Amino acid sequence: MTVPAELLERARAARSITVLTGAGMSAESGVPTFRDVQTGLWAKYDPMTLATPEAWREDPALVWAWYQRRCAMLLAVQPNAGHRALADWGQKADVRIVTQNVDDLHERAGSSGVVHVHGSLRTPRCDTCWTVHTVEVVEPDSERVQPSSCECGGLVRPGVVWFGEALPEDAWNAAADAAASCDLMLVVGTSSIVYPAAGLPRIAMEFGVFVAEINPERTDLSRAVDVHWESTAATGLPRLLEAI
Ligand code: OAD
Repeated sequence: MTVPAELLERARAARSITVLTGAGMSAESGVPTFRDVQTGLWAKYDPMTLATPEAWREDPALVWAWYQRRCAMLLAVQPNAGHRALADWGQKADVRIVTQNVDDLHERAGSSGVVHVHGSLRTPRCDTCWTVHTVEVVEPDSERVQPSSCECGGLVRPGVVWFGEALPEDAWNAAADAAASCDLMLVVGTSSIVYPAAGLPRIAMEFGVFVAEINPERTDLSRAVDVHWESTAATGLPRLLEAI
């Protein structure tokens, strides 16, 4: 799997690079993606009972336990060679990372200024006054765990964006700006079907940005991009960096 020549040329010349990442970015760290037919989270769980504001209102203890389990799982995994390659690249060039992932593996690999368009498991917040809380991660020993209460009387909820919710405005503005103002966009490990995040490569294209996709599978975006590189995050990104 050699680096496509046109991608390499663009990566060498780029002054500003934006990388949009999705669940496939963390797959080789052992974090399940959402839509893999065998192992994807949404193959095993119904997102409507776990990842919507209605689910939270209906059964907050079930939702909180599920997210606590994901937090505990994340403590047990490490950034992969792809996360590390992006962090190294960021030491040498203007690399902005926009992620749909709610994990902190980019940060733990050493990247800074990561834009989390779907929120973060690291920032649980009150469902009423929106204050961010620090909560100890404990692996739940039952299907339901009562979330803690905020001083205002609200409940502390996961700091992630659920289906039907708006993206955080600051993060979205930063992401759209990063898409529009770069010379090269890499789209790594996303199925490109969840909007508005999936629209970021289109914004880049409207501004004439060269867009390359790194994904072992073809996606809805593949036909539109300049290069689709059939590779994985932990193989392709270090290889690209070495070649530059
Ligand atoms: P998906 O599970 O929809 O897609 C994961 C993508 O990663 C697929 O296209 C895979 O082919 C690809 N992939 C798998 N392994 C890979 C690897 N090792 N290297 C590179 N790519 C790999 O995940 P997302 O696109 O991130 O939203 O999903 C988007 C949003 O849907 C998530 O942020 C989440 C979910 O519902 C919210 O929770 C709001």
